Parts: sequence; C-alpha cells; structure tokens
Amino acid sequence: MRFQQGVDTLAQQKVLDPISQTIQDLVKGIYRSGGVAGRQVGNAMYGTWLGHPFHPSTTDVVVGSWTGGFVLDVLNAVTGSGLFARCADAAVAIGTLGALAAVPSGLTDFQHPSGEARRVGLVHGLLNIGGTLLQMLSLLQRARGERGSARTLSSMAFGGLLVSAYLGGDIIDKYQVGVNRAAGETVPADFVAVMREADLPQERLHQVDVNGSPVLLVRRGDRIYAMHATCTHMGGPLAQGTIAGDAVQCPWHGSRFAFDDGHVIGGPASYPERCLATRVRNGMIEVGPGAGLGRCRHEPVSTRQAQAEAERQMAVAPALR
Ligand code: FES
Repeated sequence: MRFQQGVDTLAQQKVLDPISQTIQDLVKGIYRSGGVAGRQVGNAMYGTWLGHPFHPSTTDVVVGSWTGGFVLDVLNAVTGSGLFARCADAAVAIGTLGALAAVPSGLTDFQHPSGEARRVGLVHGLLNIGGTLLQMLSLLQRARGERGSARTLSSMAFGGLLVSAYLGGDIIDKYQVGVNRAAGETVPADFVAVMREADLPQERLHQVDVNGSPVLLVRRGDRIYAMHATCTHMGGPLAQGTIAGDAVQCPWHGSRFAFDDGHVIGGPASYPERCLATRVRNGMIEVGPGAGLGRCRHEPVSTRQAQAEAERQMAVAPALR
C-alpha cells in the first residue's frame, strides 16, 4: 500500500517530463530517419508480427532468468558449490541476452504514452537499463573469477528489477498501455441491421453503433467491410482515420488494420482489430458475428444493387458540383 502510494507520487512528478519528452523525441527521430527499414524494425519491436506486444514477452525471460540467477548465487555463496556458480552464470547471461531485446522494445513502446504513464515508464526504463548494465559488469566479473563482486552487482540488478517489474505492472494494469483497447467492444450474437445500403458511398469510412459498440463500415467495390472502430493500440477512433491501400489507418499513431480480416499491417498496434461479417438484406446493411481473425464473411453486394448505387451516385454528383 505504501509502495503504491510512492508510485502514485512518482507519477505526479512533472519534473520528469522534459527528460521523458526528450527520450520520446529521440526514439521517434531515430525511427523516422530509418524510413522503410525503421518501420520494419518498429513493427518487429511492437510485436505486430506476433499479434501480441513484444516487450512483455522479452521481459518474462529477464525476470525468470535473473530471479533464478539470484537464487543460484545465494546457493553458491552458502554451499560454495561450483555447480551452482556455473548455473548462476548461465542464468544471468540468458537474462542479460533477454534484456538486450527488452530494452529496445521498451524504448519503442515508450514513444506513445503521455502524462503519468510516461513518467512511470521513464523510471521503469531507467531501472531496466541500469540493471542491464550492472548484469553486464557482473558477467565480466564472473569471467574473471571475481564471484563476490559479481554476486553483489547481480543482487543490485535484481533489486532494481523487482521495483521495475512492479512499475511495469502499473503501466499495463493502471494506465492500460499495451492492452487491447478494443477488447471490451461487443460482438452481436446475430445479424443486426445498421443502415440503408444505398446510404453508404464507396471508399468512405463510416461509423455505426452496434449494441453500444462503434463499428467501422467501408464499401469497396461489391464488398462492405466491418470491424470494430476503436483502435486496439490506444483507443483511437478509426472512423476518423484514412484509407491506406487495403487498410484503415488510425488517426492517432498510424496503425493500419486490413479491411479484409483486421490483421495489423503496420504498428504500433500489435493486437488485430476484430472484423465482423456483413450482408445486405432488404436494402439494409446487416452486421453479424465473425468467427475470428480472417474468418469474417463479407457477402458481396449483388451486382444489380451495386450498379443501382453507382448510377445513383453519378446522378447526384453533377448536382453537387
Ligand atoms: S491509438 Fe495508437 S495507433 Fe491507434
């Protein structure tokens, strides 16, 4: 309880803002200057290829290995067993390798939070970087046979890791960074009529409400696509975004979700957007449950209906000019 109060106090410290802003700008600048390669590296670090944030996956390796290393170091100090020493060395080395992936992926994620989340994230990151440096020094001492100082350095890193892991939990649970912001949106149990088919123009993002959840509709040729309209990254309104190729691009940080099945084409989002099935009945667009990623059926609008709509738009267009 007291520790959490300390974290809450830390989160209020606006004095941390200039440094966190500087780091954010620096990381953004590095990715921007990398062009296409920078975007590919960014997507790898976000975890768009994994369908899950990459950073927490890497930190699991660090926490598990460094915890094991700490226990084995203690056993080595108590028993003097060389076996425990060798196992501790291996655990520290594996955890440090994991940290070499965790640090850049954490810095990549750090580009987007603001306010309290960013302040807590700054301290979380500094502790992780400091711990990694301490463990690297510890590995050096282990190679030299300086077990006493190696254990001390690793113990310091482990202490920092415990605090850092707590802060990481706060960043996710309290500030909702790295969670799927669209997870709470509902999927209708059956098809629901949402709007007149004739009122949906080609190539325009349109938002409708389906049982209290915002759903994005877009008509492309003879298909009408539907997906949840809340960006999985940080909740951006996809209906206010833009069409980028075969995807919608979020207006906040530029994540792109494929119309066809909702998969992430470009980060920072890592979770896909849930697509919904569509069909047209009695002149109304109906949205219904999809069976999951890539399994949503977007029933083609009949050629006759599509033709009638195209003719209607062509008749209206001159009057608007
Ligand atoms: S909210 Fe960040 S990309 Fe959509």
